[in-house]
Amino acid sequence: MYSSDQTHRLQKLTTTLLAQAREKALDKAIMEDLREVLRFHEYRYAILNDPLISDFEYDTLYKALEKIEQEFPGLISPDSPTQRVASGLTKEFPTVQHLVPMLSLENSYNEEDLLDWDRKARELTGLEELDYCIEPKFDGASISLIYENDRLLRGVTRGDGVAGDEITTNIRQIRSVPLSAAFSRYGIQLIEIRGEVLMNKSNFAKYNAQLAEQNIPPLANPRNAAAGSLRIKDPKEVSRRNLEAFLYHVSYFTPATDNLALTTHSGSLKMLWDLGFRSPQKELRTVKGIRAVIDYCHDFEAQRDGLPYEIDGMVIKVDSIALQEKMGMTTHHPRWAIAFKFKARQATSVLRKVEFQVGRTGSITPVAKIDPVPLSGVTVGSVSLFNEDVVREKDLRIGDHVLVERAGDVIPYIVKPLAELRTGKETAIVFPTHCPVCGDKLVKPEGEAVWRCVNLNCPAQVVERIIHFASKDAMDIRSFGEANVRKFYDLGFLTDIPGIYRLPFDKIRQLEGFGEKSVHNLAAAVDASRQQPLHRLIFGLGIRYVGETTAKVLAAAVGHLTDLAGYSIEDLQALEDVGPKVATSVYQFFRNPDNLHLVKELESLGLALKSGKSTTVAEGNLNGQTFLFTGTLSRLKRSEAEESVERNGGKILSGVSSKLNYLVVGEDAGSKLEKAKKIPSIHILTEDEFIKLLAER
Ligand code: IVH
Repeated sequence: MYSSDQTHRLQKLTTTLLAQAREKALDKAIMEDLREVLRFHEYRYAILNDPLISDFEYDTLYKALEKIEQEFPGLISPDSPTQRVASGLTKEFPTVQHLVPMLSLENSYNEEDLLDWDRKARELTGLEELDYCIEPKFDGASISLIYENDRLLRGVTRGDGVAGDEITTNIRQIRSVPLSAAFSRYGIQLIEIRGEVLMNKSNFAKYNAQLAEQNIPPLANPRNAAAGSLRIKDPKEVSRRNLEAFLYHVSYFTPATDNLALTTHSGSLKMLWDLGFRSPQKELRTVKGIRAVIDYCHDFEAQRDGLPYEIDGMVIKVDSIALQEKMGMTTHHPRWAIAFKFKARQATSVLRKVEFQVGRTGSITPVAKIDPVPLSGVTVGSVSLFNEDVVREKDLRIGDHVLVERAGDVIPYIVKPLAELRTGKETAIVFPTHCPVCGDKLVKPEGEAVWRCVNLNCPAQVVERIIHFASKDAMDIRSFGEANVRKFYDLGFLTDIPGIYRLPFDKIRQLEGFGEKSVHNLAAAVDASRQQPLHRLIFGLGIRYVGETTAKVLAAAVGHLTDLAGYSIEDLQALEDVGPKVATSVYQFFRNPDNLHLVKELESLGLALKSGKSTTVAEGNLNGQTFLFTGTLSRLKRSEAEESVERNGGKILSGVSSKLNYLVVGEDAGSKLEKAKKIPSIHILTEDEFIKLLAER
C-alpha cells in the first residue's frame, strides 16, 4: 500500500506536523496533509499492526485536524479520519438487500471429507488437479461492505443472507476498514466485499474480565462479542470495543473489467490488501492439489493458540474465478469453497458440588466443582457460575452432566446441562443465606444479580483486598502473590493492607521454604512498591468500578491522593470517561473515615501519594517517545542519560524495532546502529544532539 519512499515522506511529514501542532501553527492549508498522515498511521496501526508513532502523537495530530475542521466545517470530507466517530445514538438499523445473497459454507471435519470434496470439484471442472487457496476461517460476525466511487457507502450484517441490517455507522468505528479506497485504479466503480468482524483474544479477555468483575457471565466467544458489538446503538461504545475486520471475498463489482487482479481469488485478496484492507495475506496459501491443502490445514491448526484472534477452521477456495463460475452454487453454499472445521473446544463432565466464594467487594460467586476434564490445553475442575440468575436460567443441578466450553484464552464456562442424561437423582443448588466465611447475613441490593456480604471486615474480603493491592496490575509486589498473602494472613502476620509494610521478616525467615534470599527479595519488593506511581495505588485500593484506566484519570487529575476527598460527585463526573456510577463510588469511598484512615496510614508508612503530575512537563516533553542508547557516551553516563529520558516522560527500549523513536549513538556503536539505519522512522542522534533535544524540551 505504501512504498518505502512514501513511508519516508509521510514519516518526515509527520515530524513536521507534530512540531507545528506543538507550536499550534496549523491552519487549513495543511488539512489534507494531516488527513493523509493520519490515514497512513491508521494503516500502520490497524492493518500492519506496526505503528510508527505513539498513541499520544497520533492523538496530537488527530486533535489538530479536529480543531481545524471545527473552524471550517464546510471543508470536512466524509472520509476524513475524524469522521469515524459519530455522536448521538442510532435509532434503528434499516434492513437492506445484499447485492448478491450471502451464502454459507459447506463444512468438512476430516481428511476424507476434503478428499471427497476435491473429487467432486475435479469432476465438475474436468481438471486433474486444482489450484486452491486456503485461509483461516475467522470466528466473528460476517459483514458486507459496499464502496461506490472509492468511498465506503454502507456496511451490512449477514441477516438472513438475502437482506441484512445496515450498520454503516458502527462499521465506520472499525479502524481497519478504510473509509475510502482507490478501486477506480482497477476500473471499479461499485464493489461489494465480504469479510468478518472480530474482537481479538486480548480485547475479548479484557472485556470479559470487566463483565466478570460485575458478576455478569462472560460472552461465550469472540463471535458473539463481535456480533453483539455491531448491534450497539451507541457508536462510541462500538469504538471502545476495538473491533477489527478481515476481508476475504469480492462478491460483486461494476463495470465488468478485464483487470487481471480479479481473475483469481488470491488476486482479488491482493488487490484488497494493496488498497489498504486487511485481507488474509501472510495467512493465505495458494497450492496445487488437495494433499497440500490438508497439510496446510494441519500446520495452521497447530498455530491456532498463538494467533491473536480466534479461528474455528480453515476455508478452502478454488482460486480461478472462471472455474468458480463454472462450478456454481447450491441455495446454501458455493460449490467452489468448503470449510475445514477444527475440533470444538468443548467437553462434558459431571457437576459434583457448588462452592460459594467471597470476592473483594463481598460478592458471592457460585463456583461449580466438576470432574476434571482436559480442555484446550488445561485441565478444568472449577467453573464459575457467576450468579444465582445464571444457575436458575440454566436450570443446573448437582449431579448433572454438563457441557463445558473454553474458547481460546477464555475463562471456561458451562454452556448447559445435558438434561437428557438426568436420572432423577440430581439435586437443586441451594444458595446460602449467610456468608460462608464470616457468617453475616447476605444481602442482594435491588436491581443487582449478586448476593453480597456487607461486612467490610469479613476475613475473605480482607484477604482478597490485600491480594488485589499487591497484584501485578496494582502495586506489583513481586513474590507476594495470592499463596503468600493467604499464608501470612492465616499465620497472623498481617491483618490489613498497611500490614504489608510491617511484615515480620524475622518470623517469615523461619518458615519452611523461605530462604535468606527469598526473604530479602520480598522485603526489597515491598520496599520498592512505596514508590509506585499514584494510579497504581488508586487502582490497588480496590474502589468499586475503578479500573486501571479510571485510576489513571484520577491520578492525573490530582496533585495528591487526599485531594480526591475534596471532589464532589459533579467534579468527578467532569473528568474524562467518569460516569455517575464511578463518580458516586469514588465519592463514597472518600466519605468513609476508615478509608481516609487507611490512606493516611499508608502515607505514614512512606508510600508516595503525590501524583507525578507536577513533576512531568506537559506538552513538548518526551512523553511517549522511546529511546535507546548504544556505544560509549563521552559527556553523560549511560544511567544519567536514561534517567533524564524517563524523568521527562520518555521510555527506554531494550532493542531496535519500529517502536523506537530515537537511537542515541556514542562511540564504537555497532549492530544496533546498522539495524536502526534500515528503519526509516528512527531518528539517529549523536550525544550532543540528544543533549540539545533535552535542553529544547
Ligand atoms: S467465504 C461465498 N472465507 O464462515 C463465500 N467465509 O460458516 C462465503 N467465514 O458465512 C464465505 N472466515 O461468515 C469465507 N475466510 C473466510 C471466512 C468465512 C469466516 C465465515 C463467513 C461464512 C461462515 C460460514
